[in-house]
Amino acid sequence: MELFVWSLQLAFIGIVTASSGSWMYLGLVDYQSIRSSDRLAGDQPSVDDGSPTPLVDPLAVRLSELCSAVPGLVAEQLDLCHRNPYALLAISEGARRGIVECQEQFRNERWNCTLEGGINVFDMTLQRASREAAFIFAVTSAGVVHSVSRACSAGNLTDCGCDPNKPTGHKSGRGWKWGGCSANIAQGLDVAKEFIDVAERESEKNTLRSLMNLHNNQAGRIAIRKNMRLRCRCHGISGSCEVKTCWMLLPNFEDIGGFLKEKYENSIQISAEGLKKQRRGKRRVPYSRDSLVHIHESPDFCDRNAKKKILGTTGRVCNKHSKGSDSCDYLCCGRGARRIVKRITERCDCQFHWCCYVTCKLCESRTETYICK
Ligand SMILES: *[C@@H]1O[C@H](CO)[C@@H](O)[C@H](O)[C@H]1NC(C)=O
Ligand SMILES: *[C@@H]1O[C@H](CO)[C@@H](O)[C@H](O)[C@H]1NC(C)=O
Repeated sequence: MELFVWSLQLAFIGIVTASSGSWMYLGLVDYQSIRSSDRLAGDQPSVDDGSPTPLVDPLAVRLSELCSAVPGLVAEQLDLCHRNPYALLAISEGARRGIVECQEQFRNERWNCTLEGGINVFDMTLQRASREAAFIFAVTSAGVVHSVSRACSAGNLTDCGCDPNKPTGHKSGRGWKWGGCSANIAQGLDVAKEFIDVAERESEKNTLRSLMNLHNNQAGRIAIRKNMRLRCRCHGISGSCEVKTCWMLLPNFEDIGGFLKEKYENSIQISAEGLKKQRRGKRRVPYSRDSLVHIHESPDFCDRNAKKKILGTTGRVCNKHSKGSDSCDYLCCGRGARRIVKRITERCDCQFHWCCYVTCKLCESRTETYICK
């Protein structure tokens, strides 16, 4: 994974523009190093072992500093950062997983969700009101729901645990009882909605762009909710299932990536006029709550464009035999590909002789790669 990890020392200032997606940069910070530098300093360990919180929690202090260094966080976001650093960790983890999943889903596409070429390449994508931004907003929002729900179940957050509405031992009304730990998705949904959507309320109120962001944030949350799974276990003599207990399980995040990629492919273009008509009730809502929406068509991402911060596909590895998006025809945008042949000599046909040595032959093989011109 090419995901860059930043340390706290790397100031964000001047690198990214403040925008309602700024919070996502929290996902690119190297929290491991923040934690370990706490320990090196001889302070209290940052894990919550149930003992009363020390007056000054070093991790909390570092996280506060960090939040202050990210431009564009709104007052409410900063507030949560100072008040509840452990929730902030779960939120950051959600952003990180969202971005990793974005890179995974798009690794064979012309636009590959890259952070290469400087963070401002990613930043420019967020600012463009295209379907790529729609995907990033949705997948990071879904990431936060997922991570916060998981952190609740793991007992990592003080104000939540397993889903309190599905308490162990209670009848479900469908012939079985709730058991185990049901994922606390309600808490995940709440935190994601509050922390992420608040950026829109404060900045560009009621603009088309902010409607787009709010909608895609919601689509991300719905993606998790829609894909929750019920898991059950039978109890009783030799699995007779006299008693059955069930619990709600979060979806695999990779499945959410695929789910949202499909929504990306069918993303719906919205316009101010379209929304006005819709408000006057002249048309049925043209898109459902779980679809992605965008305002502008995407560039083709073929050629390098420094001004628009597009990297282009020159130098990308393409697949000669593919018919998909990683085919040389498509990925190289008709410019063609260079063939690069590498000879590799390896030990092969090895034999073990008693006792004790191994003889091998040397075999030569060739690998072929194609690289976009
Ligand atoms: C819970 O916290 C521990 C220690 O901070 C961390 O290693 C673990 O990944 C967290 N688990 C979840 C599900 O957030
Ligand atoms: C993504 O695209 C960029 C620019 O075209 C390239 O430098 C980078 O290696 C690509 N990443 C992957 C994982 O293919």
